[in-house]
Amino acid sequence: MRARPNYDLVERIVLRCIAAGNASTFNQILRNAPVNDRTLRVCLEKLIQSDQIYKIGDKFVSRAERNARNIVPSCECPTCEGRSIVANPEISAKFTQFVEIARRAPPFIQDYNQRPVTFDTAWHRALFALQPNKIPPKRVILLGDDDLTSIPFAMLLPDSEVIVLEADKRIVDFLNIVSEELSHDGFSAIEYDARKKVDDRYLGTADLAVCDPSSTLFELFISRCIDLSAKDGAGNILTFVHPTYFVQDIGLQKLFSDMNLVIRAMIPAFNRYKLHDNDICSNQDIVPINSSDKETIAFVESLVMLGVCEDSKPVIVGDLDLNYEELYGETATRRFDKLK
Ligand SMILES: C[S@@+](CC[C@H](N)C(=O)[O-])C[C@H]1O[C@@H](n2cnc3c(N)ncnc32)[C@H](O)[C@@H]1O
Repeated sequence: MRARPNYDLVERIVLRCIAAGNASTFNQILRNAPVNDRTLRVCLEKLIQSDQIYKIGDKFVSRAERNARNIVPSCECPTCEGRSIVANPEISAKFTQFVEIARRAPPFIQDYNQRPVTFDTAWHRALFALQPNKIPPKRVILLGDDDLTSIPFAMLLPDSEVIVLEADKRIVDFLNIVSEELSHDGFSAIEYDARKKVDDRYLGTADLAVCDPSSTLFELFISRCIDLSAKDGAGNILTFVHPTYFVQDIGLQKLFSDMNLVIRAMIPAFNRYKLHDNDICSNQDIVPINSSDKETIAFVESLVMLGVCEDSKPVIVGDLDLNYEELYGETATRRFDKLK
């Protein structure tokens, strides 16, 4: 699912972002030239060493003369920052409450390929998913929730069912405590391993299924989400993928076609992954200091909203007989292994 980026292109885009003034802090560049933080750091280091850019505080500055005639102006909305939705001021207190709750969550672990997004991302996911027709979904099912996206959904949908199916018991226990604290009868988390087929009681019942799988789990999680989704036209799947606008890769589109899923929306750089302390331990890294940016991010992914049709079909059916290594893959943990 993940093609390798063209590093020359990465360098050109990064240089162009900095020269155009569209992006100057580490976070801003990451959103405009979507590579992971490591690739970007190596690229920035090379550009500093070759004297093409320099750093002032947390900003990267180009040494090249600005050529105003040859610069694409930045038209990103400064309020929504490219996500296409803005939280209504009336609900901003709920975001504060969500962050207070989320800070108490168990820390993420390498097992299960966990890698949470920023609180800001989790919050905007729920806002985005509820916007198109503003009809509250009757049942939202999240497959895996280290990002705690179920909490904003539960807070915004007091009369809907919000159900989390998750393999990590620590997250299940935490979410069930939050459900009690919010006095939300319809909010619950259940221990579930996606290798097992979906329990009959959930089959075809979700108006909205949400998952953010790592690459080796992608086909499995989307398949299970199809099983969970209503097939009467109400079903949608909200998921997230490695930037498809940066490397031309037809594989993803083919996969969705094979499953008879409709790509309803795709928003670049919507998903912003938290930069974790361990990520910046290598001494060749340029440690990003982003005093002006809200939460520090490590890399970004696109949001994809998929429509489920009557004839949508999973590519994985029934129980899946895979061991841990086969399921989570060697590459999935390579990033963490490097940091040990
Ligand atoms: C797979 S992780 C992916 C994290 C991150 N979005 C990424 O792309 O690297 C997402 C969630 O799925 C859960 N998860 C992992 N394996 C699972 C399984 N076999 N069944 C159910 N949930 C699982 C994790 O605990 C986590 O909460």
